[in-house]
Amino acid sequence: MASSIKINKNPQSQIHLCDFENIEFGKIFSDHMFRVDYKDGKWQEPSIEPYGNISIAPSLSALHYGQSIFEGMKAFKNPEGKPQLFRPLDNFNRFNHSAYRMGMPAITEELFIDGLSQLVVLDQNWIPTKEGSALYLRPFMFATDDFVGVRASNNYSFIIFCCPVNSYYPKPIKVKVEQKFVRAANGMAGNAKAAGNYGISMLPSMEAKKEGYDQIIWTDGATHEYAEESGTTNLFFVLEDKIVLTPKLDGNILPGITRDSCIQLLKAQGYEVQERDISIIEMIEAAKQNKLSDVFGTGTAAIIAKIAAIGYKGTDYVLPDPEKRVVSNWLFKTIYGIQTGKEADVNNWVMKLQ
Ligand code: COI
Repeated sequence: MASSIKINKNPQSQIHLCDFENIEFGKIFSDHMFRVDYKDGKWQEPSIEPYGNISIAPSLSALHYGQSIFEGMKAFKNPEGKPQLFRPLDNFNRFNHSAYRMGMPAITEELFIDGLSQLVVLDQNWIPTKEGSALYLRPFMFATDDFVGVRASNNYSFIIFCCPVNSYYPKPIKVKVEQKFVRAANGMAGNAKAAGNYGISMLPSMEAKKEGYDQIIWTDGATHEYAEESGTTNLFFVLEDKIVLTPKLDGNILPGITRDSCIQLLKAQGYEVQERDISIIEMIEAAKQNKLSDVFGTGTAAIIAKIAAIGYKGTDYVLPDPEKRVVSNWLFKTIYGIQTGKEADVNNWVMKLQ
């Protein structure tokens, strides 16, 4: 049943300010946002309002202790020009897992899905259609108590806003194997989309950039010998275009929805997919023997982020020409094709909104 969401329409659309041919990721926002607040142990009345600043207290507990989570999703237009979402229930479930891990209340499916759907339908003119583009959707929740003691907040806000985007990485990236800093270790919140997981990534990425890399490959906290993720994406390695490897979901890895889509599509196509511990040395040896045919990251924003070279202990290992890669190019074409309704959706991943 559709929620009754109060809609306060933006009287002044900003769409004329958006240059749809040259969109920079995350810099321009659509006309509306969905909002619902949590207090007295329950979610209050939801509304859709003009996109704009929100007022917060300097003591807002999310700012001090990081009780803040988010999702990344996308809306697309199908060939009939109608808006559609990709696997939104998986994002909803992951969002509530993140909420659980951070001691926050669960959002209801009705609020999450209806809020998202009504917002996207209202702002559907903002969905770009150029190859590789989409309307990026950012559901997030944060603690709103104005209280400086350390305990779970009693009050929260859940907001969704949208921004038209192109591909997150405009070109293949060069990554450095990170062996000093760690993204997550056993028992931490690596499998949750907690804001703090991204906050702690800034310094390692900045240091890698100073050394000439675009991003890092995170390694495990215990030994720094095993690959975990790359930047904000899950990570895949392909051996001789036959065997596809990705780190297993051991609690430290984010269970990516694009990651899962890739695994399902690859298996259906007859590839052997191994979810396991992946030793960096094993991959470097494969690269030296020209057996490492493809390496890429996967995520909602990037879809597929092709990795052009890997830096390990001061040496750069250049990988095969990204243009000619079999697996990553096929995956991008297939996933983006399903998302935009140009490829058959045999797994029922698409939710049509109209
Ligand atoms: C996503 O792929 O949605 C991400 O989380 C990456 C990001 C822009 C933080």
